Amino acid sequence: MSQRKDDHINYALAQSVKHNDFDRFRFVHNSIPNTSLEAIDISTTLGPFTLKVPFFINAMTGGSEQSLEINEKLAKLAKACDLAMATGSVSIALNDSSLSESFTILSKINPEGLLIANVGAGSNSVKLNQAVDLVHAKACQVHLNALQELIMPEGDKDFTSWWSDLEDCVLHSKVPLIVKEVGFGMSPSLILKLEALGITMIDVSGHGGTDFAWIENQRRGQSLDFFNGWGLSTLESLLSIQGKTKVDLIASGGIRNALDIAKALASGAKAVGLSSYFLKLVSDYSLEEAIGEVEKLKEELKMIMCALDAPDIQTLSKVNYIVDADLEHRINQLRKMI
Ligand SMILES: Cc1cc2nc3c(=O)[nH]c(=O)nc-3n(C[C@H](O)[C@H](O)[C@H](O)COP(=O)(O)O)c2cc1C
Repeated sequence: MSQRKDDHINYALAQSVKHNDFDRFRFVHNSIPNTSLEAIDISTTLGPFTLKVPFFINAMTGGSEQSLEINEKLAKLAKACDLAMATGSVSIALNDSSLSESFTILSKINPEGLLIANVGAGSNSVKLNQAVDLVHAKACQVHLNALQELIMPEGDKDFTSWWSDLEDCVLHSKVPLIVKEVGFGMSPSLILKLEALGITMIDVSGHGGTDFAWIENQRRGQSLDFFNGWGLSTLESLLSIQGKTKVDLIASGGIRNALDIAKALASGAKAVGLSSYFLKLVSDYSLEEAIGEVEKLKEELKMIMCALDAPDIQTLSKVNYIVDADLEHRINQLRKMI
């Protein structure tokens, strides 16, 4: 069983985020909404999929005793609340079949749900399809975690095959692909380069929530603390590419509540992934309580959409907002780089 996976869980639980760029974004109030709370529809489309709920459980774990327990609870939560769910990186179970139960349990509990497998960049299509088969996934995330690998003493240090491996995955994956970051965000030029390669769904997973540089620094003897806080924020990534790509964007990284979810959707994301939020939810609450919290999150999102006169996600993506000068300045700098 993997100590590394347990370290990730325990250090992620120890992190807490108070402020991030979502606090620099405000909606413009609408005093006369021409809709009703009952009429609000929170379903969304993401690539070929229709999601009843626009937020989902993003990639976390698998491959340890602790992660088996967490995944079991997350899968039950996903099933009860109609949430899509991504697995943690499946590679560990492809190398050691004794670790597969913490992944296979997900589709056993929730066979009808939208389950998304996860592999690291540098995996070719053969490995990716094996991961998809093992977990019975309907889509697959490929995560880009170069910074994490650099900080991990045991991590990969050669990334020269990543583009050609991604190209191979685009050509031969048996399910739709999502390319995702792990909390360091993506520049608009990288998103356009991935789009040119044929990627149609991208999770920008930005800075503002779980900080994997900090987590890996806790695990290594000699800390590389200058990497702590590295990366583009989720809003910097989303707003700097807004209107310039046809890719279906997913927002993740630092989503704390229903208001952040609404802000991410208004910034162009088609769906919103939360990791640390759900990890803390299943650690701190019973399954019944966690289900109650997720239902509350859905209701709160509906209330925000109603206040903004946005009866559906498509309308929410067009509502007016203002951002602080500092965030606007950073977004403008990023836009100039395209
Ligand atoms: C304990 C833990 C393990 C993670 N493992 C993976 C992983 O295996 N693959 C991956 O793509 N992302 C992984 N992530 C990153 C998340 O999917 C997400 O990109 C990041 O945590 C930012 O979202 P958050 O601020 O909501 O936590 C992990 C996150 C956590 C908290």
